[in-house]
Amino acid sequence: MSESDKYPEDSGRRRFVKGVVGGAALAGVGATGATAINSATSSTGAGGGTTEAYAIENVAGPAPRGMPQIPIEIDDEGYLKGVWPEVKTVEENGVSVQVAETENYKGTGVTYSSEWFQYCGVESYAGLQPDYDSDNYFVVGSNPGYEWMSDLSQGDRLNVSMFDDYQDWGNGIGQAGLGKPATGTWRSQDAEDTIPIQVIRSEKIKQMAENDPWIKASTQDGFMAWLNKCTHFCCVPGYKQTEDAAKFDAADDVYCQCHQSVYDPFSIVQTLFVARPRPES
Ligand code: FES
Repeated sequence: MSESDKYPEDSGRRRFVKGVVGGAALAGVGATGATAINSATSSTGAGGGTTEAYAIENVAGPAPRGMPQIPIEIDDEGYLKGVWPEVKTVEENGVSVQVAETENYKGTGVTYSSEWFQYCGVESYAGLQPDYDSDNYFVVGSNPGYEWMSDLSQGDRLNVSMFDDYQDWGNGIGQAGLGKPATGTWRSQDAEDTIPIQVIRSEKIKQMAENDPWIKASTQDGFMAWLNKCTHFCCVPGYKQTEDAAKFDAADDVYCQCHQSVYDPFSIVQTLFVARPRPES
């Protein structure tokens, strides 16, 4: 493997190395899963440590856990936003640090925190800084994952109206009619590193929301979103984005091409892991 394969961008390399040094004690946790949690102590640095996130379930492959969900809100004009937790200042080891955390999210009892997204180097992205200036809309990225998005331009906001055919949509991969997906980015305007997300609108999500307070609070009108970074080695997976998924019984799931991890977007579960601290800025 060449250096350029390992480190696609120079700037990414610098941050990657910094992140690994800062989180050295935690580096193995992602690969070994829940068994490592007992031996890990709370991390130092801003806002790391054991966290319990809601995630789309990892159902096959080497990934240690699901990918974290991003609670959704839809504005009056139908544009989709990922909710960012409340920004506040807390004392950590005698030092005041800023964190993004909402306790008792919409009355569910769930603590929603930016720590949910602090793995795979994302903890060092500008958009993960609690006070990063963003309107939090999901926008189209530089390389949209679906044919239906080909008319959209980078930076366009995702809107409910784009998903009108969600009950029938299909693209020849797996079964049609399960839901309509989009790829996008979040909190990444003017940032060097973009935060990849996926969103899906599905009748199934609507039904799941009827019986589950967390899903009801974190989804809307059948829309559900997650941070699209594989918890194995940080590739960007996809829902119905490659025909290869069928070979691994994942044509109707979220599939990571790198090492065949599979995630079920219609199974939202709690995952416990050790979030990496944000690097000191
Ligand atoms: S399965 Fe290894 S990075 Fe996704």
